[in-house]
Amino acid sequence: MAESFKSTPPAPEDRGAMTAENLAAALAGESQASQKYLAFADVADVEGYPNVARLFRAVAYAESMHARNHLSVLGGIGTTTENLKAAWGGETFEITEMYPAYDAVAKLQENESAQMSIRYALKAEMDHQGIYDSTLKGVEGQKDLGAETVRVCPICGHTVIGDAPDECPQCGTAGAYFKEF
Ligand SMILES: [Fe+2]
Repeated sequence: MAESFKSTPPAPEDRGAMTAENLAAALAGESQASQKYLAFADVADVEGYPNVARLFRAVAYAESMHARNHLSVLGGIGTTTENLKAAWGGETFEITEMYPAYDAVAKLQENESAQMSIRYALKAEMDHQGIYDSTLKGVEGQKDLGAETVRVCPICGHTVIGDAPDECPQCGTAGAYFKEF
């Protein structure tokens, strides 16, 4: 006969683990909700419901504040140097492990739109990795990034500092449509 279930309370040093896991899950969920609502707002605009769009954007903002609060409690917001290192690390993981693995699965499952979405993200993360790396080197010497405009392809997320290309090298979108920051 199988041994009956025994309650095993966490060791004192692990007592905060469940709350940390819960907050990490909530951070992911709130971040996702915020992004969904922004996309829903764009649809509402296109369909002629500008006030529904406004509502979605307002709630997206609220959800993003929840996500930020959770991230703060988890200790995920540091100085700019720490944040650039964390951002570089996240991009590097996506480039070297996450997206290559996801791409392999999407290929096996012959999902071409997923492969395209993954390729767009992977290529843009490579842009970001390089930009974060050079920016970090500057900030480690207390030097801000230069004042040049950062431009992002509105379709694939290809990111450049300075002039946009005539055409996005990843997706072919005209440079004139790049969003400026
Ligand atoms: Fe693009």
